Amino acid sequence: MLWLGIETSCDESAVALVRSSESGFVVVGSKVSSQIRSHQPFGGVVPELAVREHLRHLPAMLPKLLEENGVSFSEISGIAVTEGPGLAACLMIGYSYARGLALTLNIPVVGVNHLEGHLLSPFISGKRDDAFPFISLVVSGGHTLLMLAKGLGQYQKLGGTVDDAAGEAFDKVARLMGLAYPGGPEIEKMARIGNREAYDFPQSFPEKDNFNFSFSGLKTSVRYFLDKNPESKSDPKFVADVSASFQEAVVQVLARKAILAAKHYRCRMIAAAGGVVCNGRLRDVLEQSCRKAGIELTLARGELCTDNAAMIAAVAAWKSASGVNIGLGSDINPNLPL
Ligand code: KG4
Ligand code: ZN
Repeated sequence: MLWLGIETSCDESAVALVRSSESGFVVVGSKVSSQIRSHQPFGGVVPELAVREHLRHLPAMLPKLLEENGVSFSEISGIAVTEGPGLAACLMIGYSYARGLALTLNIPVVGVNHLEGHLLSPFISGKRDDAFPFISLVVSGGHTLLMLAKGLGQYQKLGGTVDDAAGEAFDKVARLMGLAYPGGPEIEKMARIGNREAYDFPQSFPEKDNFNFSFSGLKTSVRYFLDKNPESKSDPKFVADVSASFQEAVVQVLARKAILAAKHYRCRMIAAAGGVVCNGRLRDVLEQSCRKAGIELTLARGELCTDNAAMIAAVAAWKSASGVNIGLGSDINPNLPL
């Protein structure tokens, strides 16, 4: 079966083709149109601007994707679209587009939870039924989730952030230091030339049986520190050291909680995904900690960490090939839980 994935939940318009077979599934093609440059001057996503950008890009992307991969409309056998969570007006664009297209092509359309897309994205290069149970760490701009994945579609939330998402913390701290949006990649760039032991920023919830995260205390601590050293913000060495120390505090807490959860629930694998998993230091620390603890680690490939439609089509492909029931809700749901 050839699935078309459509993703418009936030500030990336994305389409992808994923083919499923009994032995697994492969990404035939994937296109992402990032709106970062349009939102950059505003230091964050502006919903109205995002809607206009989706409307401008989405219709042109699909014919291009098909042409580039030598696929015709008639070969598409099903459409998978993100139905939540996300920005309501943005979700609505993809959802309406998918429904209209499905009607025209006379094929089924199914709704996919964006977070399930991230959760399963580490396995996109091949179906991994034997991966379950595993601990999933999903860290993006909107979410920080630690889940116990018991089976396809069976997820138990172990913890989440009680305030800012990890990516949001990167974005806000970057802004405090005058770095561009999105802050994650900028902080990582500065951190590469900084000393991660320069400053000792706080790490929240060190307790062993608490799988929640909190990043607002860390963010406030960085803010006070910057306020006390206003002249240093123009010193690249200072910004690099603050970036490296802040990044280290976030990365250590994410890795520690994931390992604790894997041990607590006796899982032999951790799978991590979401925009923040692009971060090289987080990938390294997760790899080192998992090796030390004898836990297998599966990381989403870089281009599949940030929002994309391959992960949306892959959920539909995996579930339909495994006989798991999938359908389409009668509406989008901006707060759809996992
Ligand atoms: O998954 P994603 O593309 O969108 C959401 O679903 O939110 O994640 C975007 C987030 C942003 O907050 C961005 O700053 C963060 O991921 N991010 C990073 C890196 N690349 C993107 N954070 C840390 N290090 C990075 N290299
Ligand atoms: Zn996302």
